[in-house]
Amino acid sequence: MMKSRKGIILAGGNGTRLAPLTNAISKQLMPIYDKPMIYYPICTLMLAGIKEINLVVSYDYLDFFRKLLGDGSKWGIKIFYTKQFAPNGLTEGIILSEEFLDCAPAALILGDNLFHGSSLMKHLNSGNSRINGATIFAYRVKDPQNYGVIDFDNEGKVLSIQEKPKLPKTNYAATGLYFYDKNVVEKAKSVKISQNGELEITSLNQIYLEENALNVELMGRGMAWLDTGTHDSLHKASSFIRTLEDRQGLKVSCPEEIAWRKKWINDDQLRELAKPLMKSGYGNYLLNLIKNQSIDNLFI
Ligand code: DAU
Repeated sequence: MMKSRKGIILAGGNGTRLAPLTNAISKQLMPIYDKPMIYYPICTLMLAGIKEINLVVSYDYLDFFRKLLGDGSKWGIKIFYTKQFAPNGLTEGIILSEEFLDCAPAALILGDNLFHGSSLMKHLNSGNSRINGATIFAYRVKDPQNYGVIDFDNEGKVLSIQEKPKLPKTNYAATGLYFYDKNVVEKAKSVKISQNGELEITSLNQIYLEENALNVELMGRGMAWLDTGTHDSLHKASSFIRTLEDRQGLKVSCPEEIAWRKKWINDDQLRELAKPLMKSGYGNYLLNLIKNQSIDNLFI
């Protein structure tokens, strides 16, 4: 029988591009407006219906993540932790997750990537539904040289994918969301160290491409894909979330809400989660979900 897909979040790295903010705290624990950054990728995986998640974290921050998230049971999911001792690359995070995956297909998301938009569920469903090969997402950006860059022919067929090329062939970046089949660990182990001294995720995707097993889907302009690697992008991500949340009175990437809407936790459990959060307004938000459900459920 086919095993259900498991999630991996890469939340290691040194966060040096955000120093001194990250001198004493992990980047992925820093706030994006009203929540720790790590809530956003966790929510993306939860929206994909993934209930078992392995968090790859820097060895010195593991206790902080555990304090925040525990074993995930409060949100009706299971969270496991793996220490990474040096930022040797994203593909190493997959290799370190071998035991956790136990030959299940994987959804991998970077701990500093934020996705929002009405077609997100469509993309998650299509990545999820492919049993063989890999699915990655292309998104138009102004500064492709800072990302993995995907080149296409005139019919949209993928020609190449290059990690942070000095002269990018297109404006289409590979986002930090990847769906892989059950052979991913075996393939990850064959990746060679790049000139940057890292086991790059792009090298792994190139292996899938060579085998004609790399699906690239375009994430259109109606989607927001934000990364939070610099002071500016961190600030912009917070402003974006604040603007949306203030307008709608709905939170973006609220794990308690997603767990409750998916019926992974019930009303009483949600009320319990709200209790220690009453002073920040977050708790009230959770309680109001229960109050407003009769109408909200028609639309959300
Ligand atoms: O954001 C999308 C981009 O992410 C892709 O377009 C690139 O192809 C991919 O290489 C990656 O590039 P970045 O330079 O943004 O990766 P960065 O080193 O910033 O790491 C991304 C996340 O993964 C971040 O949350 C830290 C974590 N990480 C990173 C490394 C190198 C780990 O957990 N372990 C690691 O060894």
